[in-house]
Amino acid sequence: MTDPAHDVDTLRERALTTLTTARARTSLLTSCVEDPDLTAQHSPLMSPLVWDLAHIGNQEEQWLLRTVAGREAIRPEIDGIYDAFEHPRAERPSLPLLPPAEARHYAAEVRGRVLDLLESTAFHGTRLTEAGFAFGMIAQHEQQHDETMLITHQLRKGPQALHAPDPEPAPLVTGPSEVLVPGGPFTMGTSTEPWALDNERPAHRREVPAFYIDTTPVTNAAYQAFIADGGYDDDRWWTPEGWAHVRQHSLHAPLFWRRDGKQWLRRRFGVTEVVPPDEPVLHVCWYEADAYARWAGRRLPTEAEWEKAARHDPAGDRSMRYPWGDADPEPEHANLGQRHLRPAPAGSYPEGESPLGVRQLIGDVWEWTASDFAPYPGFQAFPYKEYSEVFFGPEYKVLRGGSFAVDAVACRGTFRNWDYPIRRQIFSGFRTARSGDV
Ligand code: AVJ
Ligand code: FE
Repeated sequence: MTDPAHDVDTLRERALTTLTTARARTSLLTSCVEDPDLTAQHSPLMSPLVWDLAHIGNQEEQWLLRTVAGREAIRPEIDGIYDAFEHPRAERPSLPLLPPAEARHYAAEVRGRVLDLLESTAFHGTRLTEAGFAFGMIAQHEQQHDETMLITHQLRKGPQALHAPDPEPAPLVTGPSEVLVPGGPFTMGTSTEPWALDNERPAHRREVPAFYIDTTPVTNAAYQAFIADGGYDDDRWWTPEGWAHVRQHSLHAPLFWRRDGKQWLRRRFGVTEVVPPDEPVLHVCWYEADAYARWAGRRLPTEAEWEKAARHDPAGDRSMRYPWGDADPEPEHANLGQRHLRPAPAGSYPEGESPLGVRQLIGDVWEWTASDFAPYPGFQAFPYKEYSEVFFGPEYKVLRGGSFAVDAVACRGTFRNWDYPIRRQIFSGFRTARSGDV
């Protein structure tokens, strides 16, 4: 049985469009500010934007031109500078980085050669070229850095440089606030999605007992109730590590929030605005999400629960690619791809809901789960250990579902993201769950 979405011509076309879409976004994110803002470090957590730009080109050159096509390095002397493992982010501004014009020129030169290669490469034969995997991986890599660069823009002080229309206003939400996901096994991960990355593989059965899950992400209004109830000052809600962290850093609210009399304001891409009550809460760390859930008498969903809620079709007892089915994301399904520079109000995207009526699993905000980042049974690092394997372990928590800042090519029902539980400059929110009645 051939799946028309995965035939070779469609995949080649998709490689071209996703690479082109990614580069358009990269260009915008690196041309909307002047050169000094590209070379500056806006936060010790982030690279200078000009590092991301040349790193995008360098990864593309290494995997497509050198590994797939066997070509010589264009600029062999720069590999070390753009190796994320040789230099932590805080060090990157002091490296002899390519200046903006050179970085642009280098990335464009690589891309020109890659587009020729894309036409001549057979989409089978080796694991890297099978179904155009390496091209898809590189498009995803660039989009991941486009999200990283958007985080840098959010951290940057100074006037607004990016503009986008707002999502539609809040729909009237009439459905239940949570649904019961019946207990039983489901298929987690994938062995068939052609561009799924190594940590999403292989597909395997998971037993998941019955649980309830929120039909929308937790909103700013709900989170404000936690703050107003003294949530940050009550150690009952926090893990010992979380409590130590909020005390030590005097955390009282999500990142970018500021109290103004009776209301909360936030800074978003250079503009200060009243925190919108209906929007999913954004820029919270795992400890804050976990504490909120405990305060609400609930808990974070495990990663397996999240994926079952997002992919399991109870009618067919099968796992789908997305909550709405197997079709690639369209604008009516989910808030993805930096079309908007904020999450949409809770309850949005009815066409993207799961069979059980869970909304906004894909897009809007990355959702913290209760789970540590761990390999699936049968995991094999591919094509390099430094994508996933070196991060497996209890120090990273898994986030699921993607945000408004990530493109559809790097977002799937199986896609896994991870970060330290203290991180909140990322576009992170959450929803809550509770165990089903036994
Ligand atoms: C999967 C988002 C955690 O940005 O650190 C980019 C993606 N890997 N370049 C990251 C990634 C290599 C990665 N995350
Ligand atoms: Fe990278």
